[in-house]
Amino acid sequence: MWLHLLVLVVIIFLYRWYRYSLTLENLSDKYVLITGCDSGFGNQLAKRLDELGMRVLATCLTEQGADNLKKETSSRLQTVILDIANTSSVHSVATWVSNILGEKDLWGLVNNAGTGMPGAPNEWLSREDFAKVLNVNLLGPIDVTLKLLPLLRKSKGRIVNVSSIVGRVTFCGGGYCISKFGVEAFSDSLRREMKPFGVKVSIIEPGYFRTGLNNMQNMKDTLKKIWRNVHPEIRYSYGEEYFHNYVSDLERTFLSFSKEDLTPVTDCMVHALTAVHPKTRYSAGWDAQLFYVPLSYVPTFLADFLLTRAAPTPAH
Ligand SMILES: NC(=O)c1ccc[n+]([C@@H]2O[C@H](COP(=O)([O-])OP(=O)(O)OC[C@H]3O[C@@H](n4cnc5c(N)ncnc54)[C@H](OP(=O)(O)O)[C@@H]3O)[C@@H](O)[C@H]2O)c1
Repeated sequence: MWLHLLVLVVIIFLYRWYRYSLTLENLSDKYVLITGCDSGFGNQLAKRLDELGMRVLATCLTEQGADNLKKETSSRLQTVILDIANTSSVHSVATWVSNILGEKDLWGLVNNAGTGMPGAPNEWLSREDFAKVLNVNLLGPIDVTLKLLPLLRKSKGRIVNVSSIVGRVTFCGGGYCISKFGVEAFSDSLRREMKPFGVKVSIIEPGYFRTGLNNMQNMKDTLKKIWRNVHPEIRYSYGEEYFHNYVSDLERTFLSFSKEDLTPVTDCMVHALTAVHPKTRYSAGWDAQLFYVPLSYVPTFLADFLLTRAAPTPAH
């Protein structure tokens, strides 16, 4: 009985391995647009796809980011400036893409661009602070997707949305986790709607990686600025010690969890774009796979306990 069960498990494992190892042919015909290629995952993905011979349309937030990327890649890769929080910028890029493609197809869209700041305990923030993050991380990808969807439907292509492990388990205040829960919800509805059209939608859920997004010095500077502007009553209730412990906790988490090597994330993105059978969700990084994904399944009281046991204590 146990032997039969073991054989069945091995067969299922081998079947899954074989199914997911099948890759597409003619990658050199395939155009992929990636947002946020100045740095981090987007930058590395643009270089990887370029090396694979794919036609990369890399959008950058800054001229300098675009220039640097062009220097490191082949003449196939094309860049354009895009601020995903600005709908007219998104509109111009959609026109730019259509002009480049002509009669050719857009195979893939990678909604990667994102921002982490301002982030802090909810009560320290304003409506504008939330809106700033939601505009970039949630409304931006929605806008880009809606503008490019007709092209992706035509090619029966791929959409890869970069969420985060915090799109499953929230562990900080501010707009960031909310935006990633939103990205998950948008991706889920889109995946179901696009299935009859043959478009496949994948979600990438990275753990903690060292990129521009979580530059510790920037985070500390922004937090100091937020704390300085917090209402005096709120400052009194939390206290200076809370603020300092909050910053130290953030730094400790960064040092223990964040990883320099970004390939676990870009491997998932490449698979989602080039595999015959892409996965619906990819969790990237040991922290995501061993801690945060399991945490997303435990009862709420247990998750709350685990996430707050070392949290700072307010003064009053
Ligand atoms: N790093 C992590 O631990 C982690 C974990 C989970 C999920 N993620 C997600 O991964 C994605 C990529 O982030 P990353 O970690 O690679 O950080 P990153 O190095 O900061 O890359 C984000 C990119 O987005 C660009 N960007 C920011 N605002 C933009 C806007 N309004 N329009 C267009 N581009 C904009 C940034 O440009 P500038 O460099 O010029 O600002 C940068 O090139 C994000 O969606 C992030 O939420 C990251």
